[in-house]
Amino acid sequence: MKIYVLSLAAVMTLAPAVATTMEEGTKLAQAMKNELGGVLWPTFYNEGPMAALHTCHEQAQEIADNHSNKNVTVSRISHRSRNLDNAVPDYLAEQYQQLFDAYNDSNGNLTNTEFKTNNDEQVELIAISTSTQCLACHGESIDDALAKEILRLYPNDQAINFVEEDMRGAFVIHWSQSR
Ligand code: HEC
Repeated sequence: MKIYVLSLAAVMTLAPAVATTMEEGTKLAQAMKNELGGVLWPTFYNEGPMAALHTCHEQAQEIADNHSNKNVTVSRISHRSRNLDNAVPDYLAEQYQQLFDAYNDSNGNLTNTEFKTNNDEQVELIAISTSTQCLACHGESIDDALAKEILRLYPNDQAINFVEEDMRGAFVIHWSQSR
């Protein structure tokens, strides 16, 4: 029995389970989502949407930065962005559009794509869908005071009139080197 255990350990050392970039990317996106959700939702339910709006305004970018390092960046983009910094950059436009079409054609089942940039850098895009809770700040009927405050903070806001299940945007996981 002992020999069996040892040989199994040897096999595992020789062939470690290497996560695919897709798995790694999904994990990184999930970690950012969890951290942002971990500050947004308690504020939303305890103090209301206005307080949560300010929390998101103050912390969303910082949280994305905290999940990025010199090897990989994690961010969120959208074809209808609230923060202009989150607009779809030109170099991702084609792939984003393809993901958007695939997401819509598959009724939201197809959510991931991976590809290499012209510089041979690995990128994952993971679609973000709209759920009921998002509608308070991104939906068709936003409370007047909240809508006013959104426009004060984001004069170029385009991130309204989404309905449930719409693709709201995407996580971008961008590795600085070829993988
Ligand atoms: C309390 C209001 C509020 C709620 C609820 C909310 N958001 Fe947002 N959302 C914001 C704000 C504010 C920003 C801009 C953050 C920034 O400055 O980067 C934003 C930005 C985003 C972005 C980045 C792209 C962009 O438009 O700037 C995505 C994607 C997004 N939200 C998706 C969602 C999803 C999905 C949900 C529901 C699960 C949700 N949001 C719920 C307020 C909200």
